[in-house]
Amino acid sequence: MIVTTHQLYKGFTQPLLQDINLEIPAGDIVLLLGESGSGKSTLLNLLAGLQLPDSGEICVAGNPLHAMNDHQRTLVRRRHIGFVYQHYNLIPTLTVEQNLRLPLQLNRIQERDEKPAALLEAVGLIDKAQRMPASLSGGEQQRVAICRALIHKPTLMLADEPTGSLDNITARAVIQVMFEQVRKLGQTLLIVSHNEALQTLTDQSYRLHDGRLIKI
Ligand SMILES: Nc1ncnc2c1ncn2[C@@H]1O[C@H](COP(=O)(O)OP(=O)(O)O)[C@@H](O)[C@H]1O
Ligand SMILES: [Mg+2]
Repeated sequence: MIVTTHQLYKGFTQPLLQDINLEIPAGDIVLLLGESGSGKSTLLNLLAGLQLPDSGEICVAGNPLHAMNDHQRTLVRRRHIGFVYQHYNLIPTLTVEQNLRLPLQLNRIQERDEKPAALLEAVGLIDKAQRMPASLSGGEQQRVAICRALIHKPTLMLADEPTGSLDNITARAVIQVMFEQVRKLGQTLLIVSHNEALQTLTDQSYRLHDGRLIKI
């Protein structure tokens, strides 16, 4: 298993996630549905080691995140997690190619120059490598963000409403590119979306409701 959570609890002013038990095998694409405020982003943040649970266990790639300090969790996140956000979150002062090199540099991965180029080629953006993010469309920026999340071959890719800011046609194209690359590279993906139709394309689907994770 790439991800295992055991009796995970997390609340803020009131209980939010209750008794979450999740298992994600390597290579699966997993869909997480749930209404706004149901705790989807919080669950992703817990899996990324950005927050700590109130109780329970979270293991990602064999690392017990619940028992680690900030620095240890940062190292796990850097090496094992690729994150795609609704608002792309590319570094605005770096070119597309420089954005893609960041995860490699942070992980001290020595890569030949072709690596960012190969991914950009695969998502149809090779001619945009030297552009600044702000000069790209939303769909293009999100495809760059997908490349950035994949380039260091993370153990787990987390995508939090990655098409939430895109029109329907662009959203479909971005999902197709993302799933295609994830499948091709044998990556594992947990994606949060409001699009129930994605169930037909994913290996497992869950809904968060009233603090509980329900398999659907
Ligand atoms: N850092 C925080 N401090 C206090 N409340 C929070 C915090 N993060 C999330 N919440 C609350 O937890 C609930 C779920 O948030 P979130 O995980 O973002 O849900 P979703 O992503 O499903 O919309 C919301 O009511 C939100 O206000
Ligand atoms: Mg959210």
